[in-house]
Amino acid sequence: MSRFPAVRLRRLRANERSRRTVRETRVPPSSLILPVFVDPTLRRPQGLPALPALTRHPPEALLPLARRAERAGLGGLLLFGRPRRKDPEGTGAWDEAGAVPRALRSLRSRTRLLLVADVCLCAYTTDGHCGYWKEGEVENDRSLVGLARAAVTYARAGADWLAPSAMLDGQVGAVREALDAAGYAGRAILAYSAKSASAFYDPFRDVEDSSPRQGDRRGYQMDYGNPREALREMALDMEEGADLVMVKPGLPQLDLLARARERFPLPLAVYQVSGEYAMMKDAAGAGHLDESRAVPEVLTAFRRAGADVILSYYALEAVEQGWI
Ligand code: PBG
Repeated sequence: MSRFPAVRLRRLRANERSRRTVRETRVPPSSLILPVFVDPTLRRPQGLPALPALTRHPPEALLPLARRAERAGLGGLLLFGRPRRKDPEGTGAWDEAGAVPRALRSLRSRTRLLLVADVCLCAYTTDGHCGYWKEGEVENDRSLVGLARAAVTYARAGADWLAPSAMLDGQVGAVREALDAAGYAGRAILAYSAKSASAFYDPFRDVEDSSPRQGDRRGYQMDYGNPREALREMALDMEEGADLVMVKPGLPQLDLLARARERFPLPLAVYQVSGEYAMMKDAAGAGHLDESRAVPEVLTAFRRAGADVILSYYALEAVEQGWI
């Protein structure tokens, strides 16, 4: 007898003790990475109460946050910096005394958390592009040199994983080669592989002051309508030496995660970006959404679609509030 009335799927849904025993998908805190912003000009944290996870911190002031993240059992932190002064070459990105190296050095010997450094030039260049802007486009190969220098600087300061996010051709290979040559063959690369030119990065760009002064990022970030191209980006990054590949943004691209999960054996990451966070925070603030139910639903969707690692501004709050 394999159908109603013998079969009743509601039996296993009858109560929480049953539901929790057969639940197929969970979100372990260790799979979560919290993005964190450091700003060398600050003496105290600065941010908007409405979007608390988008606060900027002084580079040496992250220890209390790191302790909370450890207590919550999070996987790690993803660090974003900005320079004292932007310049055309983005030299602040590989300044040994820059915000990210300072934060890494202050945390490295004091925490067991995984420390990941974003590797990009957009917060450091005057033009606000992820590489060098010239005559209406980003120069690919010359920009790779800057990205590679930044990656080595963060590895030296103690980053476990380097995460190139500029979407330039060859960026993973360039970072891999530079790390190996500098003696960091053991540090991993989390590649922002399927990163689309998305409207959902705007709150991040406000925090980082990294919006392009001219033009936009569609000449290097992916067209979000191109799933086959996204798989190609991921495959190429693997060939160039990526240890994990990422899909970004998350919720608008769950299909890419699911397809990549079937096709590739390596760990997959997803980035629930600033606009996705703002959408839910603002809706909760307006009384339209209950975060305690909405946040676990979305985080579970990422895991169900195939993500091993979730980068989320909700990472710490979700665990501390008991939402997951
Ligand atoms: C840097 C970078 C961006 C984000 C992560 N790394 C901004 C961008 O590409 O414009 C966005 C993250 C977010 O919105 O939370 N290139």
